[in-house]
Amino acid sequence: MCGIVGIIGKEEAAPLIVEALRRLEYRGYDSAGVATLHDGLIDRRRAPGKLRNLGGILATDPLPGVIGIGHTRWATHGAPTESNAHPHASDRVAVVHNGIIENFRELRDELSAKGHAFVTETDTEVTVHLVTEYLRQGLDPVAAAQKAVKRFEGAFALVLMFRGDEDLLIGARKGSPLAIGYGDGEMFFGSDAFALAPFTNRVTYMEEGDLAVLRRSGATVYTVNDVAVRRPIVITQAGAALVDKGNHRHFMAKEIYEQPEVLGHTVHAYVNAITETIALPRTAIDWTAVSRLTMVACGTASLATQVAQYWFEQLARLPSGTDIASEFRYRDAVLMEKGLALFVSQSGETADTLAALRHARENGQGIASVVNVAESSIARDSDSVFPTHAGPEIGVASTKAFMCQLGVLASLAISAGVARGTITREREIELVRRLLEMPRLVGEALHQEAIVANIAQELAKARDVLFIGRGLAYPIAMEGALKLKEISYIHAEGYAAGELKHGPIALIDENVPVIVIAPYDHLFEKTISNMQEVMARGGKVVLISDRKGHDLSGDGVWMRIEIPECEPAFQPMLTAVPIQLLAYYTALAKGTDVDQPRNLAKSVTVE
Ligand code: M6R
Repeated sequence: MCGIVGIIGKEEAAPLIVEALRRLEYRGYDSAGVATLHDGLIDRRRAPGKLRNLGGILATDPLPGVIGIGHTRWATHGAPTESNAHPHASDRVAVVHNGIIENFRELRDELSAKGHAFVTETDTEVTVHLVTEYLRQGLDPVAAAQKAVKRFEGAFALVLMFRGDEDLLIGARKGSPLAIGYGDGEMFFGSDAFALAPFTNRVTYMEEGDLAVLRRSGATVYTVNDVAVRRPIVITQAGAALVDKGNHRHFMAKEIYEQPEVLGHTVHAYVNAITETIALPRTAIDWTAVSRLTMVACGTASLATQVAQYWFEQLARLPSGTDIASEFRYRDAVLMEKGLALFVSQSGETADTLAALRHARENGQGIASVVNVAESSIARDSDSVFPTHAGPEIGVASTKAFMCQLGVLASLAISAGVARGTITREREIELVRRLLEMPRLVGEALHQEAIVANIAQELAKARDVLFIGRGLAYPIAMEGALKLKEISYIHAEGYAAGELKHGPIALIDENVPVIVIAPYDHLFEKTISNMQEVMARGGKVVLISDRKGHDLSGDGVWMRIEIPECEPAFQPMLTAVPIQLLAYYTALAKGTDVDQPRNLAKSVTVE
C-alpha cells in the first residue's frame, strides 16, 4: 500500500514526481524516495518519514534528469529507514514497488548463492537483483522484466527504470493497481489516476498480469503470456487540484464539517424529492430476486455495513449478513444461489475487500458496491455501483465517507423495502422526507463542538475508554472506539451495551470513561439500565442522546452531549457526529498527528 510513480518527460522529472507523490501520500508516509537517470546513470534521494523530508533533501541536493521513478512507503518488510526506502537499485536497474513479494525469501537465497549482496530488509530488493541477474545473463530489459515478474508471487505493482535508456520505463501489475498516463511526448505510470491528474487525464488502467513498456512515443501492453494487447484509454474525472484544508487546521476537521453538504449531495443522488421516491441509478438491483444480502468491507466501512444490516432486516425483511473482508475471503462462507454481495469502500482499492469481491463473484454472487472513488478497482469490478458523493477524503480517519455510506445504504434499504413490499407508499414518503432532513440535522449536531471539546480535555487523560450502545447505536459505539484509537492512541473498545455485564464491566472504575450512545428509541430504557450499572461501579458516563433521552436519563451522568431528534432509523447519522468530534478534539488535546496517525495509511492495498 505504497504509492508509485514513473515519468518519462521533457522537463526535470524529480519535482513532478514529488508533486505526484504528494497526491499518493494517502497510501503511506513512512518514507519517500525518487530515482532519476542522469547521463544514463541511476541516482537517487531517499528519506525516512513524510514526503516533506524528501522535499528538504531535494531542495539542497537536487536530482537532475527527465526520466524518473518515485515512491511513498507504508512499511511491510523492514523498518521505515532510509536504507529500506524505495527506489531500490543496482547499477543496472531501479525499482519502485507497491505490495508484497511473498516468495522473497527463496528468491533472496537463490540470488545470494549467485553472489548478489542484499543491503536492505525489504522484500522489494529481490526484484532489483533478479532483474539485474537476467540483464547480466544477456536478456534485454523487456525480456528480463517479463522473466522476473513471472517468478514473483504475491500482490504487487512495480515500475522499473534501466541504466543507459532514458526512453524506457517498464511497469507490471498483479493484484495492486497501476495506471498508465498519456501525455504529449511524455508518458507516466501512477498508482492511480489522481496521482497523474496534474499531467494528463488520458489513462489506461492496467489489468491483472499486465506488463507495460513505456517510451515517449507511447505504451505497449503485454498480457501475462507476453502477448501484446490493446487496453482502452479512458478520460479520467480525477481532478488536478490538490484538495486543501480551507479554514481548518486539519483535513479531518474539514471533512467532519463538510458532512451536511456531502450527505446532501449523496442523498439527493438517490432520492427524487419531487415524487418522494428512492430513485436508484440505472444499474439498480432487482431486490425481489435477491435471496440473501452479504455485505463485506473493512474498518469504518465495515461498521457502515453493520448499521445497514439493521436497515435491510428491519425495513426490507431481507436476510442479511456482514463480514469483515479479511475473514470472508478465507472463511469459505456458504453463499446462497441468487445471493447478492455488496462491498463498501471509500477508496475502492482495499486489498481484502477487492479479493473478497472476486471470491464472491467466483462463487456465483451478484456483485454491487458502494464506493467513493468512482474509477476504483472495486467500482470497475462490480455489476452495480452506488457512488458516495463525499469528494476526496484525505484524513486517514474516515468521517464524511462513512456518513455518505450511511446515506447510500439507507437509500438502498428503503428501495429494497419498497420493492419487496415491506414498506408502504406512505412509509416510503415518510422515510424519504426524513432522509432529506438529515443533512440539516447533521449540521445541527455539529453545533455541540464546544461541549465536545471540553469533554475531550478530560478524555485525553484516560488510558482506556469504553463506548456502549444497543441496536443501531452498537456499530456507532464501535466506530467511536475505532476513531478514538486511531488518532489519539487511547485504548478504546466499543461494546453492545447488553454485553457489558458478560465481561467488560470488570474494567469499570473512576478512571475509565464510558461513552453511552442512547438516543430516545425503543431500546433507550435498556441502555439506560446498563448505564446505571456502570455508574453504580463508579464509572464516569458521557451520555450522547437527544433532548427527550437526556430528560429521562436521571442523575449521575458526568457529561452530556445532545443531538437533535430524528427518525429513529437514521439516528446513526447523528450519533456519528459527536463520536467523530470527540476523537478529533481528544487527539488535538494529546497533540497527535490527526491527519496522518502513526502506523496507518489511508488506503490499505496489501492483505
Ligand atoms: O477505503 P476503505 O473504505 O475500503 O477503507 C477501509 C478501512 O481501511 C478504513 O475505513 C479505516 O478503518 C479507516 N482508517 C478508519 O477511520
